[in-house]
Amino acid sequence: EMKRIVEQANNMTPEEMQFSYKGVLYPSLLCSEASFQAMESFEAREDDVLIITYPKCGTNWTIQILHQMLFLLHNKEPTLDQAMLEFGKPEKYEDLKQKPSPRVLSSHVTYENIPKSFFEKKTKILIILRNPKDAAVSYYHFTNNNPVLPSYSSWDLFFKDFLAGEVIYGSYFDHALGLEKHIDDENILVLTFEDMKADLPAELRKINDFYGLNLTDEQIQIVEEKSTFKSMKEKSGDTHGKLGNVFFRKGEIGDWKSLFTEEQSKELDAKFEKYLAGTKLGEKINY
Ligand code: A3P
Repeated sequence: EMKRIVEQANNMTPEEMQFSYKGVLYPSLLCSEASFQAMESFEAREDDVLIITYPKCGTNWTIQILHQMLFLLHNKEPTLDQAMLEFGKPEKYEDLKQKPSPRVLSSHVTYENIPKSFFEKKTKILIILRNPKDAAVSYYHFTNNNPVLPSYSSWDLFFKDFLAGEVIYGSYFDHALGLEKHIDDENILVLTFEDMKADLPAELRKINDFYGLNLTDEQIQIVEEKSTFKSMKEKSGDTHGKLGNVFFRKGEIGDWKSLFTEEQSKELDAKFEKYLAGTKLGEKINY
């Protein structure tokens, strides 16, 4: 299936690789207006794991952590396919109905676009935030090296679109502001990429407590060892096929300095100041 999609991508212009739905761009080879409409009536379960992120903020890292944790508890082999809620054909939601609990699901949509049934079922939501400068640099490399996403001829052009929210999944800032109103909800846990880098076991224990998993210290340690950047990159051929090195690129904090000019850095600072400074969510971002 992926091979067919990549062949299709070779004949497409960057503009054709994205489509606009309700004012936000999405990847046209991975989802469609029909899949979004079908997703609106997605039937959530109380015990689903739902991970919400803006792209490049640690989605795959967190998905695999949850898979490892649940594997230790249920002896259930991690299956990483279908995790991204909005990707695939509308029929996918029928397949997901057959999947046993707990299902690990993730999405990059804004809070307003999360299917309503997650709120009716009071499903717990895990949010991962990352410094927008590092997210932007990660996103630039990702979009240029992933054949199904549009390529940019320069960092400057990408940065302009990123700042304007004219990249796939829209504005980092709108995504964050959508979450701001709900940050104190009891079924929400907010973690950051930077805290996970600094002290992974501490963040793993937060996830453990949030989901009431009761993992032992020894089990937490096993998950930690399997979730380092090094081990995940080594396994990335199995988990992500040929794109393994694209999904697991550097895994560092501060790589923004490799591409941002001083002026671009100031522009982003100003935008952060205007939209997120003083907000509860802004406080949580390691800026
Ligand atoms: P870089 O491009 O900066 O390396 P997402 O999964 O949301 O697409 O995020 C991808 C980013 O998370 C990439 O950042 C990737 O390398 C990083 N990442 C993935 N797994 C990681 C891990 N175990 N430790 C640290 N960073 C990780």
